[in-house]
Amino acid sequence: MELKPLKIGDLTARIPIIQGGMGVGVSLSRLAGNVAACGGVGIISTAQIGYREEGFESNPIESNLRAIANEIKKARQIAKDGIVGVNIMVATKRYAEYVKAAVKSGVDLIISGAGLPTMLPELVKDSKTKIAPIVSTIKSASVILKMWERKSGRLPDLVVIEGPRAGGHLGFSLDQLENFTPEVYEEEIKGIIGVVKGYAKKYETHIPVVVAGGIYTRADIDHALKLGADGVQMGTRFVTTFECDASDEYKQTYLNASKEDIAIVKSPVGMPGRAIINDFMEHPKPGIGINGKCLKCLERCNPATIPYCITRALINAAKGNTEDALLFCGDNAYRADKLEHVKDIMDELTK
Ligand SMILES: Cc1cc2nc3c(=O)[nH]c(=O)nc-3n(C[C@H](O)[C@H](O)[C@H](O)COP(=O)(O)O)c2cc1C
Repeated sequence: MELKPLKIGDLTARIPIIQGGMGVGVSLSRLAGNVAACGGVGIISTAQIGYREEGFESNPIESNLRAIANEIKKARQIAKDGIVGVNIMVATKRYAEYVKAAVKSGVDLIISGAGLPTMLPELVKDSKTKIAPIVSTIKSASVILKMWERKSGRLPDLVVIEGPRAGGHLGFSLDQLENFTPEVYEEEIKGIIGVVKGYAKKYETHIPVVVAGGIYTRADIDHALKLGADGVQMGTRFVTTFECDASDEYKQTYLNASKEDIAIVKSPVGMPGRAIINDFMEHPKPGIGINGKCLKCLERCNPATIPYCITRALINAAKGNTEDALLFCGDNAYRADKLEHVKDIMDELTK
């Protein structure tokens, strides 16, 4: 199938590939900037984005807000006139401040999931920043579109459908993960596209939809387009790049992984996620972070009851201590056997 540019409001990405936001420290300015420079859309994850900033331990939120501005600026320098966005999880403590910081830095696009971004239209009002919810089911798509229409008369500029094969936290219950086989989930994708098309028709416009989760090759992209998508969002494929912002040791865990090493895990905040299983996952060390200071990352986390601190386990991964780490990944993470350049991946996918 022919790849058509992806139009997000008045922005156009030459290549309809969005590199998904990956936290902590996996997609920062270097990865996002390079994907954008190649004609795709580069997304910086704001999840504990300030972990390398001075003063992070004593004031994580201030460090994160400062880093949002820095990373967007650095990504733009690499991206030139490419599209740079951020991924802000709804579950983030003081979410509104993160959104405002990104808007103030003139970010092109905010993609928001891990909860329903009900407040997002209000928070970006009077700015040029485009907004996109991440949805996983027909139900969540219907709820968020209806709510945005009713509360603020706003349509999404883009909708991201994230399926059960994705990496990081997943928007499904364990039962749903079992029942949504790839074939069954395709019907859900078509249903979500139908819901979005209904709103687009009502307002005589087009709302682009991208599909995420398990997209790795050009054949996967073509398949998503055949289902009616305008493009794709990819995470795992971009982790094993030279430009990915995570440590080499983290990338190496992907290169070493076999299919059997990848499993659904329960994150400390109760949500299911997908990760490479290491000793730490089998025997989490409660000492990781719990005896230390809370870094105020997620709304729903109660430091008194969690088995380990998710922020510290993800920062360990990003920094290269992969033994005491949560190694988030998509279900394709076993496929890479070498590091690649972003440009070579983009060339391969657009050939
Ligand atoms: C290491 C890793 C971290 C991720 N972190 C986030 C995140 O912080 N917020 C989010 O909304 N999605 C996150 N994701 C999901 C990606 O943005 C993307 O949608 C998904 O991985 C697509 O599936 P794929 O990895 O099979 O291509 C993460 C994915 C990975 C692999």
